[in-house]
Amino acid sequence: IVDIKGGVDEGLNRLGETLEVRGWVRTLRAQSSVTFIEVNDGSCISNMQCVMSSDSEGYDQVESGVISTGASVWIQGTVVASQGSKQKVELKVDKLVTVGTCDPSFPIQKKRVSREFLRTKAHLRPRTNTFGAVSRVRNALAYATHKFFQENGFVWLSSPIITASDCEGAGEQFCVTTLVPNSSEASHSPVNAIPTTKDGSIDWSKDFFGKPAFLTVSGQLNAETYATALTDVYTFGPTFRAENSNTSRHLAEFWMIEPELAFADLEDDMACATAYLQYVVKYILDNCKEDMDFFNTWIEKGIVDRLSDVVEKNVVQLTYTDAVELLLKAKKKFEFPVTWGCDLQSEHERYITEQAFGGCPVIIRDYPKEIKAFYMRQNDDGKTVAAMDMLVPRIGELIGGSQREERLGHLEQRLDDLKLDRESYWWYLDLRRYGSVPHAGFGLGFERLVQFATGIDNIRDAIPFPRAPGSADF
Ligand code: 4AD
Ligand code: MG
Repeated sequence: IVDIKGGVDEGLNRLGETLEVRGWVRTLRAQSSVTFIEVNDGSCISNMQCVMSSDSEGYDQVESGVISTGASVWIQGTVVASQGSKQKVELKVDKLVTVGTCDPSFPIQKKRVSREFLRTKAHLRPRTNTFGAVSRVRNALAYATHKFFQENGFVWLSSPIITASDCEGAGEQFCVTTLVPNSSEASHSPVNAIPTTKDGSIDWSKDFFGKPAFLTVSGQLNAETYATALTDVYTFGPTFRAENSNTSRHLAEFWMIEPELAFADLEDDMACATAYLQYVVKYILDNCKEDMDFFNTWIEKGIVDRLSDVVEKNVVQLTYTDAVELLLKAKKKFEFPVTWGCDLQSEHERYITEQAFGGCPVIIRDYPKEIKAFYMRQNDDGKTVAAMDMLVPRIGELIGGSQREERLGHLEQRLDDLKLDRESYWWYLDLRRYGSVPHAGFGLGFERLVQFATGIDNIRDAIPFPRAPGSADF
């Protein structure tokens, strides 16, 4: 048995050989003397064209209609050169077995369907070309991520999902509660076990074994503890944000890659982010050619050239102050007015990457401290912090990072200024007490990277099972 990718790629060297394939029927086309069955097993975009004639074993399954689009099949056949122009080889079927029939209500038929519709069929959408290709490229990006960091001496760290701290300080966390199983309850649904008070409202005092606990928004603070021991580490895992934003770039559950570098400053951080992005983009261009050609044709024209430029060209860098000046000079009218100190909105970010710098990634650095998180290192001007965001066309912010405040006094002062409780950061402050070092890191939203690399316009199509306001089925 070979996967269909192997069969298609090596087919011409295997002429005359007997091959077995397994997969799902994409289409079935009956002609007077032969029937063409296109089979796909998810290993590539290409289908294996299987040609059945009335003397093939199992032909009765074609005649009786047992086999149809969506059915799973096992086919044994001989590799022959194809008469058609779409493929080099095809299988002349010796034997066909229908493994599982497919009900006629199967929603993924040959006709094109919208991605909105497919989101309501998240359990079946991987059977389409688009989601097959997105899944394979997402997988390749994850593999390349580990490869990049491992080759550069980083240690992968599993940061916790349940946590007591709010890294970003934005209060956008989901709360974890402990269920109280009720043995007399006929239904075992967890909904019946949510602790409630006498008046029926949720009893939040029954949270994580009696202490408040939340789903993590970022593994950064944990990564800092390991970076100040192992030097270079990275996390790669799920993170959660309870922001009720219904946009094409926000999810409530997304995967984040967070490298943390010890003995490093903002320059090192930006260099790492740039090298990482170029590495993973090059990896998919080199290793996912068929899928990338598919995106280039069907999802975003020119994406392959755009990504090749990312690999070859330098990333533009400018300060926040220069970015504001550039926006103030822009002819475009923005919905949100720009002033020094404002948070850049996605319309501003998109203007900068798409118009001002012709579609290449841009890093903006040295943001006003008021709009950034407590842990970022203060610059000598007293107004800005050593932060950096990498912006890319269509998406805006792909990466957010900074040099961390390693000076104990400065960090304590910052916590006080922001009215954050020093006590709850005791362990984080310890890192500054015991052998503190300059260190820096960044977070990259993995689904935004998948969007950037595939051209898929909605982030809900860049993750197998999107979690966003109104979507937690499946
Ligand atoms: O800019 P953010 O909030 O930074 C942090 O969490 C830092 N602690 C990271 C660090 O320095 N270790 O988030 C980082 C990235 C963003 O640039 C964006 O790509 C992604 O995470 N992101 C989201 N992706 C999808 N849905 C959301 N709701 C996201 N929020 C942030
Ligand atoms: Mg950010």
